[in-house]
Amino acid sequence: MPTTRRDFLRTGTVLGGALGAGLGSQLIPDLAAAAPSAPAPARRPVERAAKPLRMLILGGTGFIGPHQVEYAQARGHTVTLFNRGRTNPGLFPNVEKLQGDRAAGDYKSLAGREFDVVIDNPTMYPRWVREAGTALKGRAKQFVFVSTLSVYAANDTPWADETAAVAKTDTPTDEDPQKRGQLYGPLKALSEQEAEKAFPGKATIIRPGLIVGPGDLTDRFTYWPVRVRKGGEILAPGTPLDTVQVIDARDLSEFIIRCAEDGVVGTYNATGPRSPLTMGEMLGAMRALVPNSDAQFVWGDVDFLAEQKVRGWSDMPVWLPPRGATAGFTRRSVRKALDKGLTFRPLADTIRDTLAFYDQQTEERKAQLRAGIAAAREQEVLTALKAKQKA
Ligand SMILES: NC(=O)c1ccc[n+]([C@@H]2O[C@H](COP(=O)([O-])OP(=O)(O)OC[C@H]3O[C@@H](n4cnc5c(N)ncnc54)[C@H](OP(=O)(O)O)[C@@H]3O)[C@@H](O)[C@H]2O)c1
Repeated sequence: MPTTRRDFLRTGTVLGGALGAGLGSQLIPDLAAAAPSAPAPARRPVERAAKPLRMLILGGTGFIGPHQVEYAQARGHTVTLFNRGRTNPGLFPNVEKLQGDRAAGDYKSLAGREFDVVIDNPTMYPRWVREAGTALKGRAKQFVFVSTLSVYAANDTPWADETAAVAKTDTPTDEDPQKRGQLYGPLKALSEQEAEKAFPGKATIIRPGLIVGPGDLTDRFTYWPVRVRKGGEILAPGTPLDTVQVIDARDLSEFIIRCAEDGVVGTYNATGPRSPLTMGEMLGAMRALVPNSDAQFVWGDVDFLAEQKVRGWSDMPVWLPPRGATAGFTRRSVRKALDKGLTFRPLADTIRDTLAFYDQQTEERKAQLRAGIAAAREQEVLTALKAKQKA
């Protein structure tokens, strides 16, 4: 019998309740060992949209773009891609591809073209959005800008919605690689404003949380199923009850295409799942997919991890301390997007497909995950944790 996400959630909730809140570090007993390793359930075929649209995707060949293209085509839309032709150039041989370098402000290939909707994926630079807006003014009915949950000025309030203030910068330096990471949120916020200026009343701003699933090269979610599959004692952050939020790139892409089909405008947080998911539930769901797993989660609380200089998000990806400045980062309201049709596939599908994508990589790439604590360091921290528990 297939094990559904609802089952995982139930298992996790019972377990979480049994362990109680406010636990420090401890060994979690067998979480879901009895759950079978189920084959992926067949997905229903995608129905054609009532009205085919002409869609221009700025980008389209990286992580989320290909999922958008596949879903848009399955819905019967005509897709055109605009990029430099460098990233995965062999993808989609039958899709129209226009070339241009946004860093150089080159939009010549769009001259004279008209589209129902433009989806702008790759940028954090206000200038890029401003120039795309100028190039496409009056020649597209809707402009969808893919932003980020990182736009918010503060993340201390759990379950805040889209009305929360966005970050600002006095130095909106476009394209300064030094400032790139540091200014990601404020530049995305300014880019959102450019989209709204260029397409007043016709702009859709999508603010995704951590995007995961097949095609993800950051390994932030991937670290966990890979680590759980390896088995043994696994350092887990915080408590099993800490909330996490992720969105499968395919759910995000389908939502974006549906926003285009339904003419949905405005600003939407886009992350998942529908109801709060805890770290314990997420890891339990992963273990449930590994036959005869001997994985055991050893939870190091926030203070212990800080003492050990084990960082949330990078060493312990997906997770951030659920208090203080990051209390709200993994707890954003998605009520507005749910009302407009954001849907989620089962977490088990995301886990399975993430592992399948990882397994297709070269041995060298597989050995060098880009997120998660290094194996040797994890063992050191586990030793320190168990010594502390005994003391
Ligand atoms: N990953 C996450 O967890 C996360 C979370 C929140 C928000 N986001 C946002 O989600 C979006 C993800 O985008 P993606 O990379 O998956 O999109 P994508 O559309 O799949 O890939 C990026 C595209 O941009 C094109 N591109 C790059 N530089 C270009 C340039 N100078 N001129 C023209 N085209 C250019 C690339 O093609 P060429 O190289 O061939 O030009 C590629 O087709 C980003 O906006 C990101 O900020 C991500």
